[in-house]
Amino acid sequence: ANFLVLNGPNLNLLGTREPEIYGYTTLDDIEKTLRATTSKRGHSLEFLQSNAEHILIDTIHGARNSVDFIIINPAAFTHTSVAIRDALLGVDIPFAEVHLSNVHSRETFRHHSYFSDVAKAVICGMGVLGYEYALDFAIQEYEKSNT
Ligand code: DQA
Repeated sequence: ANFLVLNGPNLNLLGTREPEIYGYTTLDDIEKTLRATTSKRGHSLEFLQSNAEHILIDTIHGARNSVDFIIINPAAFTHTSVAIRDALLGVDIPFAEVHLSNVHSRETFRHHSYFSDVAKAVICGMGVLGYEYALDFAIQEYEKSNT
């Protein structure tokens, strides 16, 4: 299968950005770990971070015929973007929503997500492990429906 991992704005700063909330692991470290898992299990991975909403949307559109499952941390767009939500619904690719921090224990404006009600799964508060669990889930979902 082909998996797509998408990261929204400011996640390029992971490792130095508010480390007491987001930890010291960089996005490159996360990508390496996920690539190791996908190749070990015989799958492939596309990985992208963007600070621009339209790039995330265009990437989702481009995934339409090539990606089996999307893992997305929409970052601040979680709380604002009807457009990214609509893109995910438009291509009809199942996805998991991941947040490093527990958004529910933070400011009230982070409690609402435009993605959670249409996501296959939602993970928050597990730090970088959330990405690994989401990928493991995605692989199992794919293998369940394709064996
Ligand atoms: C985040 C939580 C969002 O509220 C925030 O805007 C982010 C990161 C997380 O991974 O915990 O940029 O998605």
